[in-house]
Amino acid sequence: MHMNELDSLVESAQQLFAQSATPADLENAKAQFLGKSGRVTELMKGMAQLSVDEKKSRGAAINVAKQAIEAALTARRQALQDAELQEQLKAEALDVSLPGRQRGQGGLHPVSLTLERIEGIFGSMGFDVAQGPEIETDWFNFTALNTPEDHPARSMHDTFYVEGGTPEAPNLLRTHTSPMQIRHAVQHVKRHRALLDAGQPMPEIRVIAPGRTYRVDSDATHSPMFHQCEGLWIGENVSFKDLKVVFTDFCRTFFESDDLVLRFRPSFFPFTEPSAEIDIQFQDGPLAGRWLEVAGSGQVHPNVVRNMGLDPERYIGFAFGMGPDRLTMLRYGVNDLRLFFDGDIRFLSQFQ
Ligand code: PHE
Repeated sequence: MHMNELDSLVESAQQLFAQSATPADLENAKAQFLGKSGRVTELMKGMAQLSVDEKKSRGAAINVAKQAIEAALTARRQALQDAELQEQLKAEALDVSLPGRQRGQGGLHPVSLTLERIEGIFGSMGFDVAQGPEIETDWFNFTALNTPEDHPARSMHDTFYVEGGTPEAPNLLRTHTSPMQIRHAVQHVKRHRALLDAGQPMPEIRVIAPGRTYRVDSDATHSPMFHQCEGLWIGENVSFKDLKVVFTDFCRTFFESDDLVLRFRPSFFPFTEPSAEIDIQFQDGPLAGRWLEVAGSGQVHPNVVRNMGLDPERYIGFAFGMGPDRLTMLRYGVNDLRLFFDGDIRFLSQFQ
């Protein structure tokens, strides 16, 4: 066989390798040249009769051809592997431009945001936060608050009574957060019993009690369930002036408006004397100039102080009850209270 025969052998190997479409085809093609009875192997065997010199040059030439065939084989193997990998990548392709599946993001209800704000502001003024039951007894909701048996607020018309309840057991949905005045004060007095018995001054009661309240009422500005936040400050020397300072401070901070004006308008509540409704007036914005009622308030009635377990000759203070729902409406310019409780996500998501 001459040199160009070796060249054409290499060429035919390259062609056959190129035609091999799969690794198996390629291994078969390889066997035809490099296998036990392949053509290169046969050439090697054919050298047996040659002289030493001829073996040397012939062997070298066959080796060059063998190496060329092996190189072609390796290149084709690599090419087939690359092609397979490309196929696989294509089949398992991830479209990273596809938007991810998101879970809806939750957020706080606007009234909850207001309650947090209220707690923060009163917290900074040294008020504790208390929570109490929404199903109350006659005693805490009415009687202890100096509200007589025949008070109209007790009528079926205004109050949700619980079926099977008795005046001694919880029997109604609280109509305001004022029962928390008594509940919290009684606990406070119990905690400081020893000091009181020794005639020592008791630490002041300074607390707010936010929560849900219920009345038989339903229109654009009233909901059968609504929120209130009670405030109570009792000490030996707490005056109506303190109420004015504290509540004015609160409102100006809450509405972020230093020129907000407050008006304490004489009113009546069985559990305060004197009593006042608190109105606020914005100096600018869409509500400028209008008086808006935000709370009931007053100096705690001596009978109520007594029901707290304290001597009304020594302890005195003020209480207020405000409407966080109303404050939320004013702060965000919402005109229908029912929007807060319909659960419409399109409305609620605007507060996030
Ligand atoms: N509880 C009263 C109401 O619901 C508000 C109030 C609270 C008034 C505390 C005076 C003192 O209208």
